[in-house]
Amino acid sequence: MDDRETASLVEFLAGVRRVVALTGAGISAESGVPTFRGKDGLWRQYRAESLATPEAFARDPALVWEWYDWRRGLIAPVGPNPGHAVLAAWEDRFEDFAVITQNVDGLHRKAGTKNLLELHGNIWRARCTREGTVREILTTPLPEVPPLCPDCGALLRPDIVWFGESLDPDVLDRAFALSAGCEALFVIGTSSVVQPAASLPAAAARGGAKVIEVNLEPTPLTPHADHFFPGPAGQVLPLLDRRLRERTGGGRRGSGQSNGKGRSS
Ligand code: APR
Repeated sequence: MDDRETASLVEFLAGVRRVVALTGAGISAESGVPTFRGKDGLWRQYRAESLATPEAFARDPALVWEWYDWRRGLIAPVGPNPGHAVLAAWEDRFEDFAVITQNVDGLHRKAGTKNLLELHGNIWRARCTREGTVREILTTPLPEVPPLCPDCGALLRPDIVWFGESLDPDVLDRAFALSAGCEALFVIGTSSVVQPAASLPAAAARGGAKVIEVNLEPTPLTPHADHFFPGPAGQVLPLLDRRLRERTGGGRRGSGQSNGKGRSS
């Protein structure tokens, strides 16, 4: 991404109203949360894909909960990083700004993001396998593994969408509607291989949005993205934000003219 390309993107962003950010594990990496498919993604000898499934839970709920207990312990003391902070601030910068995240760590909310869709659930919630009731459990480490429902004694499970399970249809509909209706979609720190989240950029592009990817390395999305910023989200997003503030005189909400293919109005 050279400076002229950045400048033209900033010019475009200064004139848009509806912006969405789709995030993945990479945005939390600089907070110290391991990504799923990176080299730190293994726990003992297990890969995430072999533990985050209904089959693994049916086979060995204690093992799956031990893994979540470990991840909850990693996440509990960490805070959001400058990447999360920029996205929280963009709720004030753009008239209509939303974050759609695949992350279950809760760091977007901790950073102050309010307009948030958590596609894959939240690691701080558990759901009764018998009654379906959902409760927040913040204690870490868990007092008992696997935890049981205090109401009925049945097994609790993480309130997380596992491989092979369907996403909440309401959340998914809203994610597609937001993507299809935005003028710019940022795709940040995701390997863009897990469906249906990986289809959101195509929905945005079909709707006329510019797709802007931020990642340490190219992904299957990169050839289709309008702009690719190689680098850590915690540096790229503050840089873009600074350029945007310089362009708009530090004010909230852009006032320039859209010069891209977005449908700014
Ligand atoms: N800045 C930007 N990108 C980064 C950074 C960083 N600091 N660190 C890592 N990345 C990128 C990696 O290059 C990789 O492309 O983040 C991506 C992380 O990819 P995954 O580990 O596959 O995570 P994600 O795409 O969120 O996984 C999707 O899969 O395991 C399931 O449900 C789980 O929500 C998860 C889903």
